[in-house]
Amino acid sequence: MKSHLLIIVSALLLSACDINESMRSNAADSSTSEARVIAAKSGCMGCHAVSNSVYGPAWKLVSKRYQGVPDAHAQLTAIIRSGSAGRWDQITGGKRMPPQQGSINDEDLKVVVDYIITLNAAKPLTTPIETTIKPDE
Ligand code: HEC
Repeated sequence: MKSHLLIIVSALLLSACDINESMRSNAADSSTSEARVIAAKSGCMGCHAVSNSVYGPAWKLVSKRYQGVPDAHAQLTAIIRSGSAGRWDQITGGKRMPPQQGSINDEDLKVVVDYIITLNAAKPLTTPIETTIKPDE
C-alpha cells in the first residue's frame, strides 16, 4: 500500500512538470491546454503522463496504437468508463485502470479523448506538407 501511494505521488509530481512544460510551449493552443487542465483536475494525471509511461501507459503510446482505428473515440471512451486491464501489461507490468466515472463528465471526457487521439498525429503532418506544396508557376 505504501509503495502504491509513492507511485501515485511521484506520478502526480511528474505529470505536474509535464503540464507546466506543455502549457509554456502550447500557450497558443487553447484546446490542448484545456484538455490538460481537465485531465489533471479529473485525476487522470495521477496515473498518466503524455510522453512517459508512469503508472498507466503514456498517452502518446495510446494514440499510436489507436491511429487509423475508425471508432477509436468510442472505444477509448467506453474503456475509460468501464476500466481497463490487460491491454498494456508489457508497459505497465500488469496495472489496471479502475472505472473512471464520477470524476469526469461526458463533455470533459470527450475533450480529453480527442486530445489523446490527436497526440500521435500532431508531428508527422507538418514538414512533408510544407515542403511538397509549391505555389503555381
Ligand atoms: C489509478 C490509475 C489510473 C487513473 C486514475 C486513470 N488511468 Fe488510465 N490507465 C491506467 C492503467 C494502469 C492503464 C492500462 C490498463 C491496461 O493495461 O489495460 C490505463 C489505460 C488508459 C488508456 C488506454 C486504454 C486502451 O484501450 O488502450 C486510456 C486512453 C486512459 N487510461 C485514459 C485515462 C483517462 C482519460 C483518465 C482520467 C479520466 C484515466 N485514464 C485515469 C491507470 C489509470
